[in-house]
Amino acid sequence: MKAIVITQPGAPDVLQIAERPIPHYGPDEVLVKVTAAGINRPDIFQRKGNYPPPPGAPQDIPGLEIAGTIVEAGNNVKRWKVGDKVCALVTGGGYAEFCNVPESQCLPVPKGLNFVEAASLPETFFTVWSNVFDRGKLQPGESLLIHGGSSGIGATATQMAKALGSKVYVTAGSDEKCVFCKSQGADEVINYRTQDFVIEIDRMTGEKGVDVILDMVGGSYTQRNLKVLAEEGRLVMINTMEGKNVEIDLSIVMLKRLHITGSTLRPRSVEFKAAIADSLEKNIWPLLASGKIKPVVNAVFPAHRAADAHILMESSGHTGKIVLSFDL
Ligand SMILES: NC(=O)c1ccc[n+]([C@@H]2O[C@H](COP(=O)([O-])OP(=O)(O)OC[C@H]3O[C@@H](n4cnc5c(N)ncnc54)[C@H](OP(=O)(O)O)[C@@H]3O)[C@@H](O)[C@H]2O)c1
Repeated sequence: MKAIVITQPGAPDVLQIAERPIPHYGPDEVLVKVTAAGINRPDIFQRKGNYPPPPGAPQDIPGLEIAGTIVEAGNNVKRWKVGDKVCALVTGGGYAEFCNVPESQCLPVPKGLNFVEAASLPETFFTVWSNVFDRGKLQPGESLLIHGGSSGIGATATQMAKALGSKVYVTAGSDEKCVFCKSQGADEVINYRTQDFVIEIDRMTGEKGVDVILDMVGGSYTQRNLKVLAEEGRLVMINTMEGKNVEIDLSIVMLKRLHITGSTLRPRSVEFKAAIADSLEKNIWPLLASGKIKPVVNAVFPAHRAADAHILMESSGHTGKIVLSFDL
C-alpha cells in the first residue's frame, strides 16, 4: 500500500510517500480501506519529533483519524462486516491506504456525510467529549470558554456545547477567525490580539466568570484562566502550546474551589476510547445526522500533498479541519 511516512524528524518536506505492507489486524480489529484521513495539530508535533507515538502504534506513519470502507474483519468482530462505511479514531497510521483499528473505535459514517467530512470528526469529537463533558462536567445552562476557538477542536467544542445547551465564549487570533467562530455558534468572541480576555470575560459575565475553560495554550494564560473561572469552575488542559511551566497563585484555587484537570487521548486504552465512542454515538451522532452539528472542513489535500497540508496547519491560516484524500 502507499503511505505517507515521516522520513526523519523535521520540516513538512520530511513527509514522503512510501510503499509499506498492508497492516495486520487482530481478532478484535477491522482493516479499513482509507478514503480520507483527518489532520490534527498533534501530527505536526509528531513530525517534528516532539510527540512520540505510544508503544504498539505505527512509529513513522502519522494520522489519528480515518474514514473508509471495511475490507476485512477479525474473528471476534461482532458489529461490523466487510463493506461497512465507517470513521474511526486510530492510534497512528491514518495517513495510509489501509489502516487496522479496534472495532470499538469505529463509528458509522453519519447519515448525509461523505468520507472527507466523516474523517474530520473522530479526533476532535472524542477529545472534546472526553475533556469538556466527562472531565469538565459541562452542564446545560453553564458557560464554556474555549481558547483557540477557530481550531478543529475549537469549532467542535463550540458546536457541541451549543447543541447541548451551554453559553460559549471563545478567543481567536484575528477578526476573520472571530467571524468564523460566530458562524460555529459562539455567543461571544474575543480577538486576543486586540482584546484582553480577562477584561472581556469579566465584562461579558458581569464578573461572575465562566464554569469551564478548555485550554490548549497554557503558559501565561494559566493564571488568567484561574481569574476568569466562576466559583467551582473547571480548567481543562489539552495542550500547553505557549509553555508547560507556569507560576500560579494557588490561593485562588482554594477561594473559588476550582478544579484543574486535563488529559491526552492518544495513549488511553481501547476500552476507554470505546466508552467515548458509545457516548458520541448516543448523544452526538443523531445531531450530526440531523444537521444540528456540522463538520467544518476548511481544506482537502490529495495524500501526496501531505506536506502542503502541514504547512497550512502550521501557518494557523485555517479555520476548522484539514483533511487528506486518498481518492482524488
Ligand atoms: N489532549 C488531547 O488529547 C488533544 C487531542 C487533540 C488535539 N489536542 C490539542 O488541541 C489543540 C488544537 O488542535 P487542532 O488539531 O484543533 O489544532 P489547529 O486546528 O491546528 O488549531 C490550533 C490553533 O490554536 C491557536 N493557537 C493559540 N495559541 C497558539 C500557539 N502558541 N501556537 C500555535 N497555535 C496557537 C491558533 O489559532 P489563533 O490564530 O487563534 O491563535 C491555531 O490555529 C492543539 O494544541 C492540539 O495539540 C489535544
